[in-house]
Amino acid sequence: MKLHRSTINRAIEQALTVTSHFGIALPPWARWTPSQWAEVALDQAYDEIRDCMLGWDVTDFGSDDFENLGRVLFTLRNGRHEEARYPKPYAEKLLIDPENQRAPAHFHRSKREDIIGLAGGNILVQLEPAGDDEKRSGQSMTIKVDGITREIPPAGIVRLEPGMSLTIPPRTIHQFWAEEGTGWPHDGKRWSLSREISSVCDDRNDNFFIDVPGIRFPEIVENEPPRFTLCHEYPRQ
Ligand SMILES: [Fe+2]
Repeated sequence: MKLHRSTINRAIEQALTVTSHFGIALPPWARWTPSQWAEVALDQAYDEIRDCMLGWDVTDFGSDDFENLGRVLFTLRNGRHEEARYPKPYAEKLLIDPENQRAPAHFHRSKREDIIGLAGGNILVQLEPAGDDEKRSGQSMTIKVDGITREIPPAGIVRLEPGMSLTIPPRTIHQFWAEEGTGWPHDGKRWSLSREISSVCDDRNDNFFIDVPGIRFPEIVENEPPRFTLCHEYPRQ
């Protein structure tokens, strides 16, 4: 099944319910409709949202298997490399995690990211350094979990309970997901929230997938009208 607009609409509606359940408020425009975005298409006051790709990001990475290989994120802030208008060196994303859904294993050449268990159940993080050939190195590594140094074996999994966090250095192959059987039960699944705080996130150029091609912004099948606008879909002049 290709990524359908109905899947995106439903995922964002579930995300709004889950975030409000956990007491996490989002900017007012998180609930804007496509016609509200069209009204500000010519208004430069909204340029940062469009240029830094803030807001909703729902993807199946081209997997045709959104339930397992997919992500629902909301980017709250980000900068852009070498763009004086957007000098923030940091980024923040909220991740809405139904149990077991994950991004394909990947690494970043540039981005350093902290993954933070925010609410609900546990977040499992699997880590392995990339080799010089940018494939799995089979090596162990030293990481920091809440500032505490820890050794983990190759492809070791760290469990983050809510409130815990770890840092993923650049060139570390990683994958993380909400632990099955943990989290808030809603709409037939269990849900957790995690947060990513990182250096600038360049999703168009700094994601290197390991096992699959990994299409970050896949084509969408328009089987019903969009109820929200994704971060790469904003209308503009
Ligand atoms: Fe990542």
